[in-house]
Amino acid sequence: MAIERTLSIIKPDAVAKNVIGEIISRFEKAGLQVVASKMLHLSKEQAEGFYAEHKERPFFGDLVGFMTSGPVVVQVLEGEGAIAKNRELMGATNPQEAAAGTIRADFAQSIDANAVHGSDSAASAEREVAYFFSSDEICPR
Ligand code: PPS
Repeated sequence: MAIERTLSIIKPDAVAKNVIGEIISRFEKAGLQVVASKMLHLSKEQAEGFYAEHKERPFFGDLVGFMTSGPVVVQVLEGEGAIAKNRELMGATNPQEAAAGTIRADFAQSIDANAVHGSDSAASAEREVAYFFSSDEICPR
């Protein structure tokens, strides 16, 4: 399987619960490496730009409001099949539907406060990594 990079965001609800380390530990135990990381408090403009593809959806305002409600941790994860592996570790968007043992099943409350984001395709990963990181901020080993 190819080595890929994907963007992960630990969302404001998980940062507020103080489970940043537990979430990162799951990535590392699954063989993914953190090759870039920063903590940010997103502006409305940053959140709207990041989620621009969803701007016509009814929940867009709530999503932007939630993502700007507190700090987040954005990371680039690298590893074999990193995009799908991260999505598997995260679990379904709605934590009520997330498989047992996934990050959302264990740490998320609801569909609008669901602990983590992960890129859903290679094209999204490329766009999303570049949205938050310049090439000199990524440190592969
Ligand atoms: S997915 O898996 O990204 O395709 O999920 P999708 O259903 O398209 O949702 C896209 C993002 O919107 C968030 N979302 C919501 N936010 C607030 N309220 C409601 N009702 C809601 N439904 C979906 C969802 O968590 C996705 O965020 P990200 O950060 O992409 O995971």
